[in-house]
Order: sequence, then structure tokens, then C-alpha cells
Amino acid sequence: MRTLSGSGGEDDSRRARPAAHELARYEALFAARTSGMKSSAMREMMALTERPDVISLAGGLPDTSTFPPELYASLMAHVAADSTARALQYGPTDGMAATMDCIVQVMAEEGTVVDPSEVIVTTGGQQVLDLVCKTLIDPGDVIVAEAPTYPGAVPTFSAYQADVEQIEIDADGMPIDALESALDRLQAQGRRPKFIYTIPNFQNPGGVTMSLARRRRLVQVARERELLVLEDNPYGLLRYEGEPLPTLYSLDADRGGVGGGADLVIYLGTFSKILSPGLRLGWAVAPRPVLEKLNLGKQGADLCSSPMTQLFVSTYFRECDWRDYLETLKALYRRRRDVMLAALEEHLGGRARWTTPAGGLFVWATVDGGVDTTDLLARSEGVAFVPGRAAYTDGRSGSSSMRLNFAGVPDEDIREGVRRIGKVMGGDTGLLGTLTGSAPGAREPAASAAGEREPGRESEEAVPLADVVALPSRERQQPARRQRDL
Ligand SMILES: Cc1ncc(COP(=O)(O)O)c(C=O)c1O
Repeated sequence: MRTLSGSGGEDDSRRARPAAHELARYEALFAARTSGMKSSAMREMMALTERPDVISLAGGLPDTSTFPPELYASLMAHVAADSTARALQYGPTDGMAATMDCIVQVMAEEGTVVDPSEVIVTTGGQQVLDLVCKTLIDPGDVIVAEAPTYPGAVPTFSAYQADVEQIEIDADGMPIDALESALDRLQAQGRRPKFIYTIPNFQNPGGVTMSLARRRRLVQVARERELLVLEDNPYGLLRYEGEPLPTLYSLDADRGGVGGGADLVIYLGTFSKILSPGLRLGWAVAPRPVLEKLNLGKQGADLCSSPMTQLFVSTYFRECDWRDYLETLKALYRRRRDVMLAALEEHLGGRARWTTPAGGLFVWATVDGGVDTTDLLARSEGVAFVPGRAAYTDGRSGSSSMRLNFAGVPDEDIREGVRRIGKVMGGDTGLLGTLTGSAPGAREPAASAAGEREPGRESEEAVPLADVVALPSRERQQPARRQRDL
């Protein structure tokens, strides 16, 4: 019998993948689009974060241990006392009015004025990605995205069989000249992208922020070419230094959108990083015709997002100053970012380059000398990170980069995790011919190809993401949980 503590999520992450002979029996029943579906790097990473012997710099995790347990208990008690029946009932597909008011407040904090009638509450920001694709993407349609891009968007785009054109970012985010060249090239082929996907603030995974000049030009390009932009902004309020920049949504709306909102920017927001990902609450703000379709898509997906967690959020906003908690998080993450930057200097200095994020949760590090970070991950004992390839839709590019999360683990784990990466890199730079890279599915062609790859050479075959993040099974140890620093 399943115990309460051994709940579904944990079980899911530990479930073994079906063997080829098991899959074969169902092969003819699967829809064609499932062949393009790739395992999310995130799923593998969530499994890793469950293991006490592994320091995980991998997930996109905020530090939920910072939320006071007594406050959580009292908010839940409020919800129970005031709204048991509503909390336990279905809610409107668009979301509850009180939650929308919180969203309006959060967006105002970044200087973005929105009308609740343009908002849809979703089951995490991840659902926005899914619903936008469900609404806009037919197989073969083009999405323009940044390179690298959010690893969690990669499986969504591939599930909808999109062709993703990635534009390499630099320190100021997506270069608009390169975007325009790509758009011209596509136009010459008679192809018009369905949307441009960007994470302008403290990009996941790149850690960089799109400059104001580029934001303005991007909105201008979208208007000149009548293209939709999907602005994914989970981290905008987690800024540790520098001045906040306007959202693309507000730049578009300021140019006089129909009905006062933006015409061409779909905005994605979430409570995950400023409050809690366990709530699974995010939102989209979109032009009304698009919103209408998102609503229809959501009806088919889950009818509504959880009223229980929506009421938790509205109670929290009513009873507390949510900005105070945000300040706590910012102070903590700023310090951890600095700890990680110092650790990188100490253990990887001279052998890698990395970004210095002004906010968010991630550093993007690129190792010199053709080291393949997927191999590195497979061989690294006791530390996890997201290998760069998970952020590219071809599954090949980004092979010498890695995404490191500095927000979700204590200072000493950041130091130790980076030290372990430096150690396993040890003799690697320049000695890649000796790599074994043996992943658990050594029988799987992609995994063995990874082991045989030559220094600095990309595999000719596109490597499925499932293999990109396949990890060797290690002995499960159960040491006491590490003390958290707050
Ligand atoms: C860029 C980006 N978009 C969307 C999401 C999805 O977040 P959630 O579904 O928890 O709101 C994340 C989570 O890490 C993210 O980093």
C-alpha cells in the first residue's frame, strides 16, 4: 500500500523507463507525434534532487524551506475556515477573481499594467507553454527561440512537432540583427514563424538579460512583421542588482494595442519563483482572441487550476506583504550567486567561462577544451547539473556548456558541488579521447555514441534528449539530510 509520504510525484520520478520489448507491444497505438516527444531533462533532474547523496545544482528550484511553516499552516487554516466549499470545488477556467487581482499586483511591481480581463490563470507557467503551442502550432510550424533556451520548453515544442529555429544569445540577450536575418531567411522559404519565444530577464539557462534597446527593437520587429512574441518572465522580480527593465508586454501595450493591452506579446508569469512551485500556479496575459483560444485549450486540459492553491495565494496576498518575502529571497539568492561565482573562480578558473547573472537562479558555464558536459554529468559522482544540450532542440549543440542553479541549495553545497565538478573535469580538458561516458543504457545507440565521441566533435546523429540526460545508477545511500543555511 502506498503511504502518504511516498506520494505520486516521488514514485513517478523513480519509475524505470519501459524496455524496448515492452514498448513494442503498444507501438502501433501511439500517435505519430509521440515519436518526436522527448523526455524532459527536468524529469530526470527531479529524480536526482530526491537523492540525498547528490548535490543538485540541476533543478530550477527556488528554496521553499525559506517559507515559514507556521505561516503556511495559518494560511491553510484561513482557507479552511473561510472557504472550504470553494477550495474543494471546481473553479472558473479563466481563474478566480481574487487570484487575478494578485497577478495584477505582481505585474504592476514590474511596471506592467494589465486588466484582469486579459489574464488567464494556469497550472504553472509550464501550462502556458503547452496551451500556446496547442493554440498556435501545427506540425512543421516554426517557433523562433533563443539558443540556449529553457530546457523545459524543448519537450513541449517537440511534442507539438514544431520546427524550432534557435538564435544564439550574447551578453545582451537575443541579437535582433540575427533574429531579422533568420526571419528573412524563413520568409524567403515562404515560412512565417508562429511566435518568437524569449526569456528576457536572467534567462534560463543563459543567465543574461535582454538590453532595453533590444527589447524596443524586438517589439518593433514584431509589429512590422505582425509576429507574436511569447515573453516568458518567471524571474523578473528576482533582480539582485541594476535597474529593472520594462517588459516586452508593456512596451507593446504602450504603443497603443487594441483595447489598451498588447497586440502581439503573450506574457507568461508564475508564482513558482516568488512564492512556491508546489502551488502550480502561473498565468498568461494575451490579446483577447488568443486568450479565448487558450481558455478553450485549458478546458480540454484540466478545466481549471486548483481553487485550493488559488485561494492560498489570495489569502497570502491579503494577510501578508508578499514583497517582504521577495526581499528575503533576493537577499538569500544574491548571496548564493556570489558564493557560486567565487567557487567557479576557485575550482574552474582558467578552464571555463561563465555568465554573471544580475538576477534569477542560474549561471551558464562553458568548459574549454571540448569537454562534453553530458559525459561529465554521467561520470560526476554526487553532483548534478543540466548539461547544455538539453537547452538546444537539436540535442547536439551546447555540448560543452552546463546550467548551474545557485538558489536551491545551501552555501556549503554550492561550494562542494562546484568543487566536485572541477574535480571530475580534472584531467578532462584535452584528454577527451579517454572518456568512457558510459550511461545506463549503454545498449542504446545514442548513449554508446556519446561514449565514443572524439574531442570537440559533435555527434552526427541528433541525440534524443532522454539519452542526453541519462545517468548512471549509483548506489542509493541514505545519509542524514544536510543542514540548510538560511
Ligand atoms: C523560463 C521558464 N519558463 C517556465 C517555467 C515553468 O515554471 P512553472 O510551471 O513552475 O510556473 C520555468 C520553470 O523553471 C522557467 O524557468
